[in-house]
Amino acid sequence: MRRSDRMLLLELTEGLGDLSAAVAALGESQQRIERRLDAIEAEAAANRKAAKAAARGLYAQVEDLMALQQGLGVEAPLPRMRGWAAGPELMRFLFEEVAARGGARVLECGSGTSTVVLAYALRALGSGRVTALEHDPAYAARTRREIAERGLGEWAEVVDAPLTAVDIDGESWRWYLPAALPGGEIDVLVVDGPPGRTGPQARYPALPVLLSQLGSDAAVVLDDADRPDERAIVARWCADFEEFTAERLPFERGAVVLRRGR
Ligand SMILES: C[S@@+](CC[C@H](N)C(=O)[O-])C[C@H]1O[C@@H](n2cnc3c(N)ncnc32)[C@H](O)[C@@H]1O
Repeated sequence: MRRSDRMLLLELTEGLGDLSAAVAALGESQQRIERRLDAIEAEAAANRKAAKAAARGLYAQVEDLMALQQGLGVEAPLPRMRGWAAGPELMRFLFEEVAARGGARVLECGSGTSTVVLAYALRALGSGRVTALEHDPAYAARTRREIAERGLGEWAEVVDAPLTAVDIDGESWRWYLPAALPGGEIDVLVVDGPPGRTGPQARYPALPVLLSQLGSDAAVVLDDADRPDERAIVARWCADFEEFTAERLPFERGAVVLRRGR
């Protein structure tokens, strides 16, 4: 073979080597792109599923709000729900709970929208009263104003109950001042305060402190039950008070109802 042919062959062989390295790199990059496309597709599918679930949840809340408004017989807009306040699913549940009893003595930990809606519910049923404990004077004043403006004073009241050290079996908690608690039997206990920022498992004391006032068929309803603190509270309630059974209500933020022996 002539020298120039050998050179040409060498160049061709090197060129082929470069080409196959480039083809291999292209193959790897194609695989990376395909994996990324698969991940994007999976993420898009998860987003579509989450969006559908959110739309279904919102539609259910609209249905709950309409059912509630009709059941309460109120034409005026109800106070704002969700956010800090209870949502329409929980409010409808509470309405049906007091309606099933033909009215009820309700004690609420934490005042606000739920106090007003429950007052409307009891007025519609013609029986019962809701008493809301409120540690924050500004929110107490706001809820009292709502109650007064809507002419619901016969059905609801807000009790100023500052948070203080409360001893339960040698353990200290920050909870509503015991001297502020109303006496008498409770049919429905709504636990939606104090806020979590006031201490770990801030709502735990409600059951041990009020246990002796709960009627034999009382319902204890805890809002925000999907939060880690509230999950721990429910677990502890069930462990400490074995006569109660907890049922999770499938609401946006989760809620739990506890009843004796069911
Ligand atoms: C979770 S809120 C619920 C109150 C009531 N159950 C309702 O449905 O409106 C519990 C406590 O948070 C406080 N609170 C209410 N609205 C608030 C807001 N927008 N920002 C900060 N704290 C608020 C009040 O002291 C209230 O007692």
